[in-house]
Amino acid sequence: MLQLENVSFTVEVEGKEKQIIKNVSLSIPDDRLFVVTGPNGGGKSSLAKLIAGIYVPTSGKIIFNGVDITDMSITDRARLGIGFAFQQPVKFKGMTVLDLLRIAAGKRISITDACEYLSSVGLCARDYISREVNSSLSGGELKRIEIATVIARNTPLSLFDEPEAGIDLWSFKNLIDVFERMRENIKGGSIMIISHQERILSIADEIIVLKNGELDRQGARDEILPSLIGTSSAISDCKMGAVKKGAEE
Ligand SMILES: Nc1ncnc2c1ncn2[C@@H]1O[C@H](COP(=O)(O)OP(=O)(O)OP(=O)(O)O)[C@@H](O)[C@H]1O
Ligand SMILES: [Mg+2]
Repeated sequence: MLQLENVSFTVEVEGKEKQIIKNVSLSIPDDRLFVVTGPNGGGKSSLAKLIAGIYVPTSGKIIFNGVDITDMSITDRARLGIGFAFQQPVKFKGMTVLDLLRIAAGKRISITDACEYLSSVGLCARDYISREVNSSLSGGELKRIEIATVIARNTPLSLFDEPEAGIDLWSFKNLIDVFERMRENIKGGSIMIISHQERILSIADEIIVLKNGELDRQGARDEILPSLIGTSSAISDCKMGAVKKGAEE
């Protein structure tokens, strides 16, 4: 269970304060898949970075399974069980895909296991296992490897920031299967996916809408989704032009 209590995050841009997250209070109970959505620049990635420890709140508290993690480092949070797949994946010079998956899993997983993680994100494992995680990998390949590491980590809280970005249509369908399988085996943890895709929103148990750094709405999928896609006025109200049917990207 993750709780955010009155979390705000402000940065200084050219001498001026910019409030990126404004007094957000949220509760993410276990055994559920949450999808965070909302207009570009609404604060979704910043919220995920606050949860993962990449950003530190200016005020407010973040509590994970009863532990106050507000001032905890990224590493300590990862140890407590928070896994994060970035919107833009990180490259690791000199490290192979297999090394990366082993580090993520925190144990010496077999090549067969590693191949399974890669296959689940639509990569033909044998072609990738010994590749170095560098710029020779395409954007979509990097993104999928990053998603595979979060699956391998199997943490109580798994955060995915726009997992669909740069992923082709065929792999997008597989990605949905991957998330549905994760959801089935969730036991005592939760999954948070940041997404603009209607297909991903449709597998959520709960939807959180962030707008201008504020919590606009949080509720059950069936309650929130129709208001995002049902009427054009609701869509424009939320500037949700980015909610797409399918994965044309
Ligand atoms: N470190 C930072 N310094 C300055 N501005 C920042 C910083 N981090 C985020 N922002 C700004 O905060 C706002 C929210 O950014 P964020 O990346 O959280 O949005 P988002 O909801 O993830 O958007 P998108 O849908 O485009 O990914 C943006 O205006 C962004 O430029
Ligand atoms: Mg973002």
